Amino acid sequence: MEIPEALRGLREDPVVEVTLPSGDRALLVTRYHDVRSLFADHRLSRNIARPDAARISADNELFVDPNIDPDPPKHTKVRGLVTRAFTARRVEALRPIAWRIASDLLDDMEAGPRPVDLNEAYAFPLPIKVICLLLGVPAEDRDSFRSMVDGFLSVTKLPKEEVARCRRDLWTYLGDLIDSKRRDHSEDLISGLIRVRDEDDNRLTEHELHYWTQGLLIAGYVTTASQIGTGTAVLLHRRDLVAQIQQDWSLVPSAVEELLRCQIMGSSVGTLRYAVEDIPLDGYTIRKGSSVLLSEESANMDESVFEDPFNLDIRRKENHHMTFGAGLHYCVGAALARMELQVATEALLRRFPNVHLATPGEQLPRALGGFMEGFTDIPVDW
Ligand code: HEM
Repeated sequence: MEIPEALRGLREDPVVEVTLPSGDRALLVTRYHDVRSLFADHRLSRNIARPDAARISADNELFVDPNIDPDPPKHTKVRGLVTRAFTARRVEALRPIAWRIASDLLDDMEAGPRPVDLNEAYAFPLPIKVICLLLGVPAEDRDSFRSMVDGFLSVTKLPKEEVARCRRDLWTYLGDLIDSKRRDHSEDLISGLIRVRDEDDNRLTEHELHYWTQGLLIAGYVTTASQIGTGTAVLLHRRDLVAQIQQDWSLVPSAVEELLRCQIMGSSVGTLRYAVEDIPLDGYTIRKGSSVLLSEESANMDESVFEDPFNLDIRRKENHHMTFGAGLHYCVGAALARMELQVATEALLRRFPNVHLATPGEQLPRALGGFMEGFTDIPVDW
């Protein structure tokens, strides 16, 4: 349950060559200010549907879609259609709903047998219910889309054929969903995107509508669920921190930010970029044609930005971590994720003041081989 040692010396070099799970090579940018500025740099393209670009997985074309232009100006326009649904004001309006969902889940936990797997009982259902509500996806579909999404995000977990089947099934499921929403004229986010698509062919193609629906559904819960699970596990492992929060609930937002910064167990492989020009960087040159990973994890541990970065300090001020990225692709759902994480943490610690891990933190089984690496089970008791 410690921050990986490998992150300590990483920033001595601004760029480090790494081998991806596919066996392909890529360049990892390590320093905070470089990571931040390159997130906003047009010389790094998110379009990795190129024959000479590295692949994250040998068995899964993760983030590769030749029918999508993921770079400005096209991307920025489409993204603008979505971001307005996730403004801080709209997200705040959802906070009481998230509290109600959390309370209902805690009621169910209380009524059932113990110990309970926090992932299944709480960390996953909470963001899934919120995103289903926002997007207008029937909540009863969640079991079926969860297994498809799990396959969709496999890096080494599933064989190629299984990944391909999950990707196909998910695409078909979303197509059916969009068809049914076209008929029922609701007020949710997918219906809004369908209206934009149907009113003006130039603003959103059918493929883009499909792609963004898929992206929002997946990004809308997988990351948040993993962070609720791993962040809570880390907190419960550190009872001293739980006690501090329970004495002063105003610490919840800074605790959530610090757990996001440290991402101790829930980090992801990250999204690849491709250098379309040479990029000089602190005496090094990222050559045109290189595949590049901007390391949020390394940036978040940069001693020149964060005081005592390896110390999990839930009172940390000015915590401008990179966990939601920055710049051109800054996480659309950052405000939503923050709100859900705050609600999830506070609701759990208030309901069950003595909540604790039923398995020692060091023995929690890791979820490996997927895009997000959290824990498979987090048994808790109270
Ligand atoms: C703890 C939770 C979350 C984390 C750590 C996270 C992290 C990130 C990061 C690092 C990026 C940037 C990727 C890049 O630059 O290549 C991103 C993009 C994105 N996130 Fe999140 N995210 C979270 C929750 C959410 C939620 C709740 C949504 C809601 C719908 C969401 C939707 C998106 C979308 C659509 C993008 C793509 C934006 C673009 O390409 O312009 N994320 N996220």
